[in-house]
Amino acid sequence: RLLIIDFGSQVTQLIARRLRELNVYCEIHPYQKVTDAFLTEFAPKAIIFSGGPDSVMREGSPRPPKKAYEMGVPILGICYGQQVMMQDLGGKVEAGEHATAEFGRAYVTPSETRSDLLAGWFMDGSGREQVWMSHGDHVSEVAPGFDVLGTSPGAPFAITADTDRRFYAVQFHPEVHHTPNGKTLYQNFVQLAGFTGDWTMGAYREEAIRKIKDQVGDKPVICALSGGVDSSVAAALLHDAIGDQLTCVFVDHGLLRMNEAEEVVAMFRDHMNLRVIHAQEQELFLGELDGVSDPETKRKIIGRLFIDVFQKYANQIEGAEFLAQGTLYPDVIESVSFSGGPSVTIKSHHNVGGLPEKMGLKLVEPLRELFKDEVRALGRELGLPDSFIGRHPFPGPGLAIRCPGEITREKLEILRKADAVYIDQIRKHGLYDEIWQAFVAILPVRTVGVMGDGRTYDYACALRAVTSVDGMTADYYPFEHDFLGETATRIINEVKGINRVTYDITSKPPGTIEWE
Ligand code: XMP
Repeated sequence: RLLIIDFGSQVTQLIARRLRELNVYCEIHPYQKVTDAFLTEFAPKAIIFSGGPDSVMREGSPRPPKKAYEMGVPILGICYGQQVMMQDLGGKVEAGEHATAEFGRAYVTPSETRSDLLAGWFMDGSGREQVWMSHGDHVSEVAPGFDVLGTSPGAPFAITADTDRRFYAVQFHPEVHHTPNGKTLYQNFVQLAGFTGDWTMGAYREEAIRKIKDQVGDKPVICALSGGVDSSVAAALLHDAIGDQLTCVFVDHGLLRMNEAEEVVAMFRDHMNLRVIHAQEQELFLGELDGVSDPETKRKIIGRLFIDVFQKYANQIEGAEFLAQGTLYPDVIESVSFSGGPSVTIKSHHNVGGLPEKMGLKLVEPLRELFKDEVRALGRELGLPDSFIGRHPFPGPGLAIRCPGEITREKLEILRKADAVYIDQIRKHGLYDEIWQAFVAILPVRTVGVMGDGRTYDYACALRAVTSVDGMTADYYPFEHDFLGETATRIINEVKGINRVTYDITSKPPGTIEWE
């Protein structure tokens, strides 16, 4: 296994992600924890030093133990990790000056010395590779034994290597997308280190189970199950690890899609044998939302009630010390602001973030290192059906934010039916997996129509379908006109209460995916 020593870079997890893509098992440990004893016990086959925000010029800045260099294993240093390695082994680092600091895109050109680390690099005819730099300081003199393999305008020693000792160090970040050929560099490194790339999601599952057991021991754990992919996979994984020590609370706020509550509860309770409390609180939520039409007020009410309800049910579980959450890696990076600047709240997202402090619970977050597609792979590994794993995201406040204006039971009922027809159409045409998210919003207007010989005066609805990679930006889905026509006809014929269908062709930005 490979050890990543974390010096605090924002993108350390991405290194792990790249290695998992190469089917190499790795663990990230903070530098404070990595002592001589730790290294002996861990017995890494290779080590990566991550980047970090500190300056090696500062007294007391973070270091790996000297032993790391004495274990005879390959080491790759990245950014701060490169500077640390150079300084530790007798090279020099210079403080950042304006002229040599590099942030963002840069180009590296090769030196004369070649190395297997760069197999597959500099091949596209341009003679250079785009890399992502983010450094103030830079190496000004390489350590004895090191060659320079590549140079960029601000980093004369952008890529350095001591091939005999298999120590490699780069100033840029090969783990980010803006270093397009970065994955090749990792691949070369792990190959040089003798990894065969035979590690799988099955192995990840075993490891995750071991960690959960270590963390919670024999204590009860509670989990808010939403039926979404993340909380479902988290719950299935926890159940695998600790069985009946886990109790899930499924809060039914009456704002779910057609048959959703029954399906989720049946799957987890009957099919997967989890202990699930079905909190039927529809009356409470719909009562408090009565007459409310402002989107933010709706969101706040739902968020507050959710916490109250969850707390009420959780209190029934004696001795619960842990709260499990399906937090993913993107949630972790998004919560640490990259820019550091204040950002405007567009929508107050509903999540259970406030729960642990309020309830004095410790968090278990077994998906914290994973990305969405990896969570899906893990879910498959855990035996969750494909139809469940591939489901479109569904917002915490549910249909409340797909019902602009006042929410009534009548509107919710109409909305559920229309949504079911729309999704059925999308599935029948084999489009479901191409779309990030698709749903119907019921509009707060009635329009006049004619059906048979009669006049109708019913609600209009909007169909929404977008493609996206992460929900942050999105494009409307370019349906064929025939598909839209057929879907509109079906909705108007099959759903009493709707007599007009529109298609929303707004992208994000300037729109958002949901209507509220
Ligand atoms: P917007 O509408 O902001 O949505 O473009 C981006 C993605 O987030 C989902 N969404 C939410 N998810 N709680 C959630 O768990 C929320 O309060 C919430 N609001 C929006 C939305 O469905 C889309 O996938």
